[in-house]
Amino acid sequence: MPAVSFPPSLLERLRHADRVVVLTGAGISAESGIPTFRDAQTGLWARYALEELATPQAFQRQPQLVWEWYAWRRALCADKQPNPGHLALARLAQHIPQLQLITQNVDGLHQKAGSPQVMELHGNLNRFKCFEQQHPVTSWAETGPMPPRCPRCGGQVRPDVVWFGETLPQAALAQATAAAQRCDLFLSVGTSALVYPAAWLPQLAHQAGAWVVEINPNPTPLTAWADVTLAGPAGQVLPALLAHTWPAA
Ligand code: OAD
Repeated sequence: MPAVSFPPSLLERLRHADRVVVLTGAGISAESGIPTFRDAQTGLWARYALEELATPQAFQRQPQLVWEWYAWRRALCADKQPNPGHLALARLAQHIPQLQLITQNVDGLHQKAGSPQVMELHGNLNRFKCFEQQHPVTSWAETGPMPPRCPRCGGQVRPDVVWFGETLPQAALAQATAAAQRCDLFLSVGTSALVYPAAWLPQLAHQAGAWVVEINPNPTPLTAWADVTLAGPAGQVLPALLAHTWPAA
């Protein structure tokens, strides 16, 4: 990676920021070995059809196929570890009085890295609920047909992730929106900024007067208007950004 230079004005703002919002996407977990969705060749949506795997209709049509695809993704993520990008964000929480970390990821790596109060906008691969009634389901016998059945209503169990065509958890979205509207600095890390409503958040922050900083090796719709773009992998840029901002820490 060519050395990323950090504008002194950014370091100054970050050092004195009271309220920072960080929005992460699949790119932050790429260096942990978890594929993104939209990167050409390696992205999940380059290899699989999202309408056959990540919609409620797909689950109704082919519950076993969808269940198995998510079981494969769970297994893929199970042994993955946070990378220096996740760890830098966990450390950032110790410097900023009010840091809200919002993630579109479902892999749990921010929690594994030690970030407090992670807001998961798209759910979590390791949480389950029944399709009809949304009852939380925590265990089932691995021997029977898959997907398993809800012990309360008998409905089919699905991963508690947000599928296309579904609404986001409303309380989390309201909290994320409020945080974006009152932050001093908004960091968008490793997201293509294409999927709404998450992609509104940096726009709301910008309209409310916050600085928007993007960390991504590739351009996105945000790049044209972000206050600062740090073009590089999050696992390198974030630790360097912290080291430049708080050299003695
Ligand atoms: P995408 O796959 O759309 O975008 C990943 C972004 O990460 C791209 O802009 C890459 O350039 C960037 N990237 C790749 N490697 C990186 C690295 N090492 N450091 C920093 N950035 C890197 O993933 P998301 O934006 O997360 O939704 O996608 C948003 C949503 O679309 C996901 O949450 C998922 C998906 O369909 C649902 O499942 C509901």
